[in-house]
Amino acid sequence: MKFQKAHTMRGEVTIPGDKSISHRAVMFGSLSEGTTEVTNFLQGADCLSTIDAFRKMGIEIENTPDKILIHGKGLHGLQAPSSVLDMGNSGTTTRLISGILAGQTFTSTLTGDASIRKRPMRRIMEPLSMMDGKIESVNGNDCAPLRITGAPLHGIHYHSKVASAQVKSAVLLAGLYADGETLVTEPTLSRNHTEIMLRYFGADLQSEGKTARILPEPRLEGRKIDVPGDISSAAYFIAAGLLVPGSEILIKNVGINPTRDGILRVAKEMGGNITLLNENHDGEPTADLLVKHSVLHGITIEGDIIPTLIDELPVINIMAACAEGTTIIRDAAELKVKESNRIDVMVQYLSAMGCDITGTDDGMIIHGGQPLHGTEVDSHLDHRIAMSFAVASLVAEGETTIKGSDVVTISYPGFFEDLARLCAM
Ligand code: S3P
Repeated sequence: MKFQKAHTMRGEVTIPGDKSISHRAVMFGSLSEGTTEVTNFLQGADCLSTIDAFRKMGIEIENTPDKILIHGKGLHGLQAPSSVLDMGNSGTTTRLISGILAGQTFTSTLTGDASIRKRPMRRIMEPLSMMDGKIESVNGNDCAPLRITGAPLHGIHYHSKVASAQVKSAVLLAGLYADGETLVTEPTLSRNHTEIMLRYFGADLQSEGKTARILPEPRLEGRKIDVPGDISSAAYFIAAGLLVPGSEILIKNVGINPTRDGILRVAKEMGGNITLLNENHDGEPTADLLVKHSVLHGITIEGDIIPTLIDELPVINIMAACAEGTTIIRDAAELKVKESNRIDVMVQYLSAMGCDITGTDDGMIIHGGQPLHGTEVDSHLDHRIAMSFAVASLVAEGETTIKGSDVVTISYPGFFEDLARLCAM
């Protein structure tokens, strides 16, 4: 797909539902008794992979245009899948479902696309094995395909080396089936949607600082969930509104959970003009975001804030490339094991656009303010790379071509239409 520089961006956009919350609604609804009704569910390919997997395990899920209905069968109601479970591109499906499957009474096999089959699974295999789970990498390379044989699980206190909500969630979900309490302590708090939603469904789960503790065998009950807009998808419009001269964009109903809102804190520290309107703090907090064009300056981004903006770092790189001065990103080695190696890919294509950027072991150093020019970018099967460079194209001279841009359907099927609409207003 080809892109040109934008003149200005104006108008309103309603962002599709949060990907992390949509996945969890399907999973926890399936493990609950009764019906779970989900509105503003993200109809992205990743979340459809989660629906497909639970359907294959005997859960009836109605997917209608305005809501999805999950007819859960309780904690022990899943059936052995009739075929291999295909996770598509979804790391969240793969890692969270592994925790659930470890506690079943049947064997299952998980696989996925070329990207998922390269992503590290040792990080969940290790704690699940410590719980007596039987999980193996079919090709012996610590990646999918994974074969999981359900087994009686043992509660543990797991001290995770990485701040990963997927690892934390896999262990907590296995903890639903364990013989006693299960605790997870992380080095830095990662997104806490599992803790909030499992508690809402009726689990006995407590969080204190960086430790979450769950008791086994709760009776989970079907619930209503209205999924907030995904701040990770809003990030592209935040960046576009800040960078394109004369812009003013209202982004409606965005989730602003403090474990996810690092982009807002960073954008403001860089000098970004963002106002939160209509804040709502019932359940997962939400707000409308009014974003106006701003002159940005470089900052240092490191430490505890990193997990709260990990998926937004590619587009924060674009903001940094356009900011005056130097931006240093540290403590973000996790970028290397996302849908692509996001340090290498960002350095490769931002350099090709004329940016002064150097990759490091755990982040990047960007000397901003050089004019960007169009180039050809390959998405590397990574939706966030495709959307980040679509934003870069709005401020680059000449034409930018993004190969493999269809990958945006993973998390934001209507992204290019929404972007074009705001450019035209
Ligand atoms: C997610 C957790 C994060 C994030 C991913 C979604 C989740 O991954 O990058 O897009 O829904 O739990 P890690 O847990 O690997 O950091």
